[in-house]
Amino acid sequence: MRTDQTVTIRRLDYQVPAYLVDSVELDIALDAERSIVEARLAIRRNPASTAPRTLVLDGEALEFISATLDGQPVQPVFGDNRFTLADVPDSFTLVTVSANNPQANTTLSGLFMSKNGFFTQCEAEGFRRITYFPDRPDVMSRYRVRLSAEKARYPVLLGNGNLLEEGELPNGRHYAVWDDPFLKPSYLFALVAAKLVCEETTLTTGSGKQALLQVWVEDGDLDKSHHAMESLINSIKWDEERFGLELDLDRFMIVAVSDFNMGAMENKGLNIFNTKFVLANPEVATDIDFANVESVVGHEYFHNWTGNRVTCRDWFQLSLKEGLTVFRDQEFSMDMIAAAAATPAVAASGKAVKRIDDVRTLRAAQFPEDAGPMAHPIRPDEYQEINNFYTATVYEKGAEIIRMQQTILGRDGFRRGMDEYFRRHDGQAVTCDDFVAAMEAGNAQLGELADLGQFRRWYSQSGTPIVSAEREWDPAAGRLTLTLSQQTPPSASQPVKLPLHIPVLLGLLGSDGADLPLRLEGETGAAPTERVLHLKEARQSFVFTGLPAGEAMPVPSLLRGFSAPVVLDHDLDTRELAFLMAHDSDAFNRWEAGQQLMLSVIHARLRGDDAALQTSALVEAMHRTLEADLDPGFVEVALALPDEIYIAETLEVVDAPAVARVRDELKRQIASALAPSLRARYTALGVALAATGEYRPDPASAGRRGLRNLCLRYLTEIDGDGIGLARAQYAAATNMTDRLAALTALAHAGAAKMELEDFFKRHENDALVLDKWFTLQSTAARVPDGSDQRFVLHVLGLLKHAAFSLRNPNRARSVILQFCMNNPRHFHADDGSGYELWAEYVLKLDGLNPQIAARLARSLDRWRRHTPERQARMRAALQRVADKPELSNDVREIVGKALAA
Ligand code: TRP
Ligand code: ZN
Repeated sequence: MRTDQTVTIRRLDYQVPAYLVDSVELDIALDAERSIVEARLAIRRNPASTAPRTLVLDGEALEFISATLDGQPVQPVFGDNRFTLADVPDSFTLVTVSANNPQANTTLSGLFMSKNGFFTQCEAEGFRRITYFPDRPDVMSRYRVRLSAEKARYPVLLGNGNLLEEGELPNGRHYAVWDDPFLKPSYLFALVAAKLVCEETTLTTGSGKQALLQVWVEDGDLDKSHHAMESLINSIKWDEERFGLELDLDRFMIVAVSDFNMGAMENKGLNIFNTKFVLANPEVATDIDFANVESVVGHEYFHNWTGNRVTCRDWFQLSLKEGLTVFRDQEFSMDMIAAAAATPAVAASGKAVKRIDDVRTLRAAQFPEDAGPMAHPIRPDEYQEINNFYTATVYEKGAEIIRMQQTILGRDGFRRGMDEYFRRHDGQAVTCDDFVAAMEAGNAQLGELADLGQFRRWYSQSGTPIVSAEREWDPAAGRLTLTLSQQTPPSASQPVKLPLHIPVLLGLLGSDGADLPLRLEGETGAAPTERVLHLKEARQSFVFTGLPAGEAMPVPSLLRGFSAPVVLDHDLDTRELAFLMAHDSDAFNRWEAGQQLMLSVIHARLRGDDAALQTSALVEAMHRTLEADLDPGFVEVALALPDEIYIAETLEVVDAPAVARVRDELKRQIASALAPSLRARYTALGVALAATGEYRPDPASAGRRGLRNLCLRYLTEIDGDGIGLARAQYAAATNMTDRLAALTALAHAGAAKMELEDFFKRHENDALVLDKWFTLQSTAARVPDGSDQRFVLHVLGLLKHAAFSLRNPNRARSVILQFCMNNPRHFHADDGSGYELWAEYVLKLDGLNPQIAARLARSLDRWRRHTPERQARMRAALQRVADKPELSNDVREIVGKALAA
């Protein structure tokens, strides 16, 4: 909807629906320019409603043709994307006929066309672009749909549930009838009519039922569907084993489409995916792509229970399904990594690396959001456009809030809570409060521990809490007092923040690096070497006794495994951080100590301090890590410097190019100091990988490739043979991981001109690989030939490239969003050219696809953090967009909030 006004929807205004729809029968005659939809709705007044007897349906971008109520023609009133009929009976059948234009639908919401057919996307509010309906998740209905389309162009007709019937029609058309036995909200409706082929198999589920599994792709892509199919099978098995949840359908389909706004969609029995998260084989996909396919396939499959069987009462409850399902996909990936590991130690390390990746994402995407103009609790209180709330906060922080419940209740307790959740709510549309209540009820035997009263504040309060730690050591008594304080910075909508219930998993390291027994004052009996402290007050002290008297103060390892989504303001010095890096039994905290050490060096250098001593301590510690007998995947993350965006978040005032410069200098210094070891490791890993034979994306070999490619990245930073190694690796690569890593290293060094041309020629016909080609150029530190051409001109060149298109979201993201979000040094160029480009493209995209435009718009969220000159230019760019009449709700909300901040 385009308007100059903003309408705010509030959580506390929730009203039950006035009318319910028991069944929906759709007859959809698909046509590129004019699809005709006949909808037969069995409508009944909601006994729980006291609203007037007026039927209000949503409808957007529809051409009304006719309506009858119990067979009698009626004339609805239209306005404001609503269809209104006054004085309707208590129970009736409404038949509407409407038309829509899929070809003209560039929003990719509702019914739209991609190159090989018709597809739908109904979450959150797309169903109203298909037919008139109470388009809200608490109206759950039974659906049957008859699809018809031209057979030659659209030979495959798919819907939710089971295929009842199919056949031929006159004029070269054909039809299929699909019936979904489960009640569902309209946002889970889907259809596909396209030219596709499939890989299929049958699977016997836990209870012995046979299920047909299909992965549908474009003709020619069947050599890339297998990993998705395997991931689906693994997901189905995992949900049975870990949560006792079985597939409830006779048939489960995944369909890949190349024009898609997000990653994928969990439509009942008919998941629709961005091709990026389905198609993979060694020649076109990297190790990261393989892992992403597995996790997104898992994510959508897991929604079948957490989202579909139990759904959301209203969109404010989005994290009920998204936070929980992200948590589930994270756990699935970890369990898959562990299952593939040769030894328990490798399994533990692999799981830590996955956790580290997830925390990096949280810090890079969610922490800035929680401190900026779009800050919101995981259960927001208001929105102008719901599409703007599919955020890192709702998804990733939401997953952390589920994870903390598992940490507090224990794995068994969490499982009991999940069982109780499904026992109570299967088939219902519920709230986040219902979830927490089920967690409590399933764990009554735990007593006080299961009281999540204060914990619920995590759902209502935004902002990242800062936890500080102070220590007091009494060596004579062997007594350590640990005082933890918490404080959440106030925000505009929440000037007063309350203390949260923060689970702090910790250990204490003795002088030999081993974990000490943790006995709190007054406790008797066996003492564990790791435990959870429950920080609930603003300031709270914990007294540990029985520690080795006469020794130096034990070194605390706090927030192990990142047990809460907070910023830890630690008081550890360089020596202690290096000690933790070397000895902490918790791999996550070994990594974290390294990151903190790196950050302190970067901060010192940004201040202009002489950081020589700190730097050499860091280099030594990194050298030890590189030489130690550790899992390569772990060494890779341990040697990677914090990224520019995370560094920026730790600063009061950001000078983005200066951050990049200081980080580069440190990187070069590390590379010079460690060059012989890096080179030796690079070679040794190459030999080891060659010995394992054929490429496989398993965690062990992916870890080796990852570390080898990190060594290469360091080596290309310094004079020497790094560039030569990269060119040789590019030429010899037998898989996309190694080829792209070499190309990226060359691109950052400004020495990739020839290889970029070669890569383009090799992969010209593969859209997903071309996206990588665009992305690596838009995010590079230098232009391809290393000249001093202004970077923005290079980006403009990419935007004019024959293969570029704004209409395809993956392609649009690969250039303009990648540049604005992931290339801070050039986006924040002194002349403001990055911001001008931003404004131009936000406006251009808004005319085509408001959801994508709004995502781009968010790259100026943190404008207040930058230097005053840049702030002024960013503000002007924001104003230029805001001044444009007829913005989408999506973009208006984002720029409006940014300017108000
Ligand atoms: N529910 C989907 C998921 O998390 C994501 C989703 C929401 C989506 N809105 C969308 C996908 C719009 C595509 C387009 O898996
Ligand atoms: Zn989801």
